[in-house]
Amino acid sequence: MLVDGKHFRTIWFDEQDQVVRIIDQTRLPHHFKILELNTLEDSCFAIRTMQVRGAPLIGATAAFGLYLALKEDLPFEEAFNQLLATRPTAVNLRWALDRVAAAVEPLQDHSQRVASTLETAQAICDEDASNCTDIGRHGVSLIRDIAQAKKGPVHVLTHCNAGWLATVDRGTAMAPVYEAVENGIDVHVWVDETRPRNQGASLTAWELYKQGIPHTVIADNTGGHLMQNRMVDICLVGSDRTTFRGNVCNKIGTYLKALAAHDNGVPFYAAVPLSSIDWTSDEIPIETRDPEEITHIHGLNTQGMLDRVRLTPEGSTAYNVAFDITPARLVSGIITEKGIFQANEDNLAKIKP
Ligand code: MRU
Repeated sequence: MLVDGKHFRTIWFDEQDQVVRIIDQTRLPHHFKILELNTLEDSCFAIRTMQVRGAPLIGATAAFGLYLALKEDLPFEEAFNQLLATRPTAVNLRWALDRVAAAVEPLQDHSQRVASTLETAQAICDEDASNCTDIGRHGVSLIRDIAQAKKGPVHVLTHCNAGWLATVDRGTAMAPVYEAVENGIDVHVWVDETRPRNQGASLTAWELYKQGIPHTVIADNTGGHLMQNRMVDICLVGSDRTTFRGNVCNKIGTYLKALAAHDNGVPFYAAVPLSSIDWTSDEIPIETRDPEEITHIHGLNTQGMLDRVRLTPEGSTAYNVAFDITPARLVSGIITEKGIFQANEDNLAKIKP
């Protein structure tokens, strides 16, 4: 997507300098900073500390992590396990690691293994960008149908960041929005701030702002009220792991939006590349994170410096669950690169790779 008129992916291999580069998402929206990944440890650190985040981008970064590990001559299996342990919920992580492992497994020659790992990581990136474009092309039909049936903008509500920053390019849930805007459809996005890490307020708002798309940031608990007052036409969210039965795991708070949507007859769709579908299990490991993400908040201070302040009393404890599960019965459909499918086992089986 464009940042001040220049196209950026969220991760790329710089052929000239032979390094992997990422956008440091921990500094957005205040600073646009590009970092280099040179080692396996850099890649693990980037995923763990959420310099990169979002299910497809976590997978792509892990694939590059294996390339960097082989370049450092580190044992492949250890690197695989180290990367796998960085974050538990997004199934793209395992998917990408397995894909790289399958590519290098038949190769004996070290330089061939290094080259194949890099090639596979780049293929994962290219395919992710193209899959997200296809998700946009399929998903835009939902927005177009609403636009044709009403006057004024189509109001989309989204949670967390499921835009290009969560993927390699274009995004999942935001891809239909970008497609709609490019097709001249009038769209406005309600952006849930998404506590505790505020990926909506800091990342989704920033990327929509950079693309010039009308949007309004709302506190996390506002969506229900907006839906009761007919101010939301459709909810579009991403997913870190969708099971073969159509249960959708996404950032904490997604489930409450789905309940409110169901109660108010608002369509609720998850945009999901096939790499985010777990075909093997209906069990979803839910990440719990540092309680400090709840007790403290980050932002720019009055001196224009990035700062962190405490919100809660010193003695209060906090419990930081990062994801929740929206059961398939609350999901109107799953938008994939292959089309839109009902959230159930029979329908999803049609697109099982
Ligand atoms: O904790 P994060 O920021 O990695 O969570 C990201 C999300 O919840 C996204 O909605 C999800 O990855 C799907 S969008 C590609």
